Amino acid sequence: MKQMISYLTVLLTLCACTAAYNPLEAYEQLTPATRLDTPEALANPDFAPADIARGKYMVGLLGCGSCHTNGALVGIPNSAQLLAGSDTGIAYTNPFVVSNPGVVYPANLTPDMQTGLGSWSVQDIVTMLQTGVDKHSGQTLPVMPWPSYANIEAADALAIASYLKSLPAVQHKVPANVRPGQRASSPFVHFGVYQSKD
Ligand code: HEC
Repeated sequence: MKQMISYLTVLLTLCACTAAYNPLEAYEQLTPATRLDTPEALANPDFAPADIARGKYMVGLLGCGSCHTNGALVGIPNSAQLLAGSDTGIAYTNPFVVSNPGVVYPANLTPDMQTGLGSWSVQDIVTMLQTGVDKHSGQTLPVMPWPSYANIEAADALAIASYLKSLPAVQHKVPANVRPGQRASSPFVHFGVYQSKD
């Protein structure tokens, strides 16, 4: 009888184990459960659709298009040139530091090879957002509010870069930056530091 009880105990323990066993528990889920099959993602299968969707959401919230979309700086954004750079520049002055304005033209962020970010890797874009250092000139970007983006989490920066890479490439060369004191031949808005007179 005693032996039977111990057999039963073993059997019951085994049954309990079998019932609780879940083969999926040993696996980590690597892909998000919800797939967002955006048209951009379908056209660019290399990037995770969920990343592209999140990047689009973040680029919208962070207002990148308010400078980088042609026309946006003067209140008439051209939707056919979404994030493809601005022909209107931004002049910046700070008479406490430098008296003449320099003018910068928000870059083409679409993946066009010649005029956009086509030759930038995703990591290049992530690094730029986190450090504010431009890949072309190696200088810290003026005007762009990158210090506000610098603490961005790596996953969010990656999502932004994936979204930018997924955009249709638009060929659009923005005017060259104008150094302080030189004449600008393209229009610009003025972003300066002023002080009222007494
Ligand atoms: C207030 C305007 C403004 C906003 C907002 C802005 N940028 Fe910029 N950005 C600029 C300007 C101006 C330049 C070019 C500066 C220069 O050439 O020195 C630039 C340059 C860049 C560059 C370098 C491209 C190149 O070819 O050198 C990248 C990448 C970039 N911006 C991405 C972004 C992203 C992503 C966002 C949103 C998260 C953003 N920017 C928001 C103004 C802005």
